[in-house]
Amino acid sequence: MMKKIWFLYPDTTPLSSNAFDWFRESFSRYGMEVEVHFWDEASPDSPLSVDGRPDAVVMRGYNLELSRKFESGGIRVLNTTRSMELCRDKITTSEILAARGIPAPRTVVYEEQYPTWERLVEDFGGKPVIMKLSFGSKGEDVFLVEERAQYTQARRHCEKLAPARPGSRPLYQEYIQTSCGRDIRVWVIGGKVAGCTLRSNKCSFKSNFAQGGNAHAITLPQGAAELAVRAVEALGLEFAGVDILFGGGEYPEFLVCEVNGNAGFRTASLIGGVDIPTILAEYMSHSLCQHKFHF
Ligand SMILES: Nc1ncnc2c1ncn2[C@@H]1O[C@H](COP(=O)(O)OP(=O)(O)O)[C@@H](O)[C@H]1O
Ligand SMILES: [Mg+2]
Repeated sequence: MMKKIWFLYPDTTPLSSNAFDWFRESFSRYGMEVEVHFWDEASPDSPLSVDGRPDAVVMRGYNLELSRKFESGGIRVLNTTRSMELCRDKITTSEILAARGIPAPRTVVYEEQYPTWERLVEDFGGKPVIMKLSFGSKGEDVFLVEERAQYTQARRHCEKLAPARPGSRPLYQEYIQTSCGRDIRVWVIGGKVAGCTLRSNKCSFKSNFAQGGNAHAITLPQGAAELAVRAVEALGLEFAGVDILFGGGEYPEFLVCEVNGNAGFRTASLIGGVDIPTILAEYMSHSLCQHKFHF
C-alpha cells in the first residue's frame, strides 16, 4: 500500500513558488503519496490532527507544538521536534558546535543582551563584529558592526524586531572576513551530502539569495563536506542545509555559519542539477521500510 506522507507548511508560504508538485512526483516514484497541509501561523491551536494517520510528516517550517503533537501520536516527523528546536536557535547551535569541537565563528552572548560599545570593542579586540538575532532567516537580522553608529543602528533594529520573535536574543560573532559575501550551501539528507552551491554577493557581506546573492556550481571541497555532515549530525537533523564560511589564515579552512532545518532547495537543483526531493524520497522510503523511528 502507498505510504502517506504529509508535508506541513505555514499558511504564509507563497503558493506560487513552492515545490508541492515536485515533492508529489518524486515521492510517488517511491510508492509514497504526498499530501500538503498548512498550519495557521496566527493561531497556535492547529486544526491539523494526527487522526489522518500519515506514515510520516515532513515539517517545512518551525512549529514545534504541531510536530510534537504528531510525535506524541507515534508518527515519524522529519526533522524531529528536538532537532528543529536546536537548529532554530543560533545560540544553541553555536553551543552544540563548540561542544563538539566543530569549527564555527566564536559567538558571545551577554546577560544584559546589549553590551556597551566599549565592552564589544574590548571583547572582540577592536575587530568587526557580526550581530544577529538568535531566531532569523534570509539574512534579515544579521549586521556587520565596525563602528559605534552601526552598533546603535543594529541594536535599534534588533530591539524593534525581538518582540515579534519571542525568545530571541542578540548574539555577537567574529566576522570571518575571508568569506565576505560568499559561502557554500550544502544540503545533507540522511547523513550524506545531497548537493551544494556556492553563494556569492558583490553588494553585501551576506550571501543569502534574499539579500541579492547568486548561486554558482562548485565542486565541494572534502573538508567542507565533512564539516557539513558533522554539523547536521550534531544537531540530529535528517534533512538540512548548512552554510559553510571560507576561513583560512588564523581560522580553520571552513567554518559552519548556520544549520537550517527548513532549507529551501530549488537553487541546488537549478545550478547543480541535483534533485533534492528525489534524494529525500529515496531516503524516506528506505528509512520508513526499515521502521527506523528517531524520537
Ligand atoms: N560570522 C560571520 N562571518 C562572515 N559572514 C557571516 C557571518 N555570519 C553570517 N555571515 C553572512 O551572513 C549571511 C546570513 O547569516 P546567517 O547566520 O546564515 O543568517 P540567516 O539565518 O538570516 O541566513 C551568511 O550566509 C553569511 O554570508
Ligand atoms: Mg543562513
